[in-house]
Amino acid sequence: YTVSFDARDTEKGAYPHYMLKEIDEQPAVLRRLLQEYKGKTGSIAIDPAITRAISEADRLYIIACGTSYHAGLVGRQLIEQIAQIPTEVHISSEFSYNMPLLSKKPLFIFISQSGETADSRAVLVKVKKLGYPTLTLTNVEGSTLYREADYKMLLFAGPEIAVASTKAYTAQMAVLSFIAVAVAQGKGIKLDFDPVHELSLVAQAMERMIDEKALLKEAACDYLSVTRNAFYIGRGLDYYVCMEAALKLKEISYIQAEGFAGGELKHGTIALIEDGTPVLAFATQENVNNSIRNNVQEVTARGAHTAIISMEGVTAQPGDKIVLPKVHKSFTPLVSAIPLQLIAYYAALQHECDVDKPRNLAKSVTVE
Ligand code: G6P
Repeated sequence: YTVSFDARDTEKGAYPHYMLKEIDEQPAVLRRLLQEYKGKTGSIAIDPAITRAISEADRLYIIACGTSYHAGLVGRQLIEQIAQIPTEVHISSEFSYNMPLLSKKPLFIFISQSGETADSRAVLVKVKKLGYPTLTLTNVEGSTLYREADYKMLLFAGPEIAVASTKAYTAQMAVLSFIAVAVAQGKGIKLDFDPVHELSLVAQAMERMIDEKALLKEAACDYLSVTRNAFYIGRGLDYYVCMEAALKLKEISYIQAEGFAGGELKHGTIALIEDGTPVLAFATQENVNNSIRNNVQEVTARGAHTAIISMEGVTAQPGDKIVLPKVHKSFTPLVSAIPLQLIAYYAALQHECDVDKPRNLAKSVTVE
């Protein structure tokens, strides 16, 4: 099988690192995805065979590792809320050995940038043997998970070279939102928003955050230049964003970081807060804005060095460190991805780490 892409896609050009280039490409990737998955009527369209298979399932099981797993967590919420299908998300290596009790008519969705991750493939092989339908979301056409699944959808993110995944993550969340929207439309569920319009606004909002590099660099310097540990806190979709924010920071800056559900802090983790411990809070969701701000106060009172990342016209309050442009509440993780990635990037530079090739990590892990 041959993969064709433009050779310029694999060059850094004027960029010091692939990671920075790939972060900057995200609005263009989202716009391309909107083109690739556009139906005749101007709305989102996916392969009708996929919509049918998903509508026939009584439960979806999303299987993935690493960053792809974090995209899956966001995807689950979108699919449950928009398409109203019960959905679970599992880490591949756990699912393989501790398979949960399955529903009567499950459908499996594999999310993998590379399409080669051995842990995910092990699950694919198992569930295929059991006769269940499978769908792969991958960036690599012709990859193993692409070839072996019944159904496939491409991420169209272009080659991702930096080990830490960035543009594939936002592409995965976008494609999962397309699935949610297309299945909802197929079931006759009335949407209270225009998905194509809202996702175009997301691309613009991403661009605005990309233009805020100086601010994000300053935040990374202020909060993360000397620390050995850091916490991200959030609630709802922001919690999943925090998990990815912590992973990005760990991967490329080696700062020990954790993403926590704001309300869970008091049940143990708050014991770790000392004078100056960085705690960064994502607060983009109106329904939990007060609660997450209370959590920020709790840690501030114990000496934490806190910052709030909020959304213009929705949750923003005077004094918030970073304010994201307003987008539909289901799509905030796509915009939050930019600051979380750029903060990790600048923190890694501060710590003089090899951004594109962090120690001990591989771009695609083909062993179990
Ligand atoms: C590796 C990479 C991660 C990636 C994970 C899953 O550990 O370093 O960045 O998220 O694999 O990879 P996949 O290709 O399956 O998305």
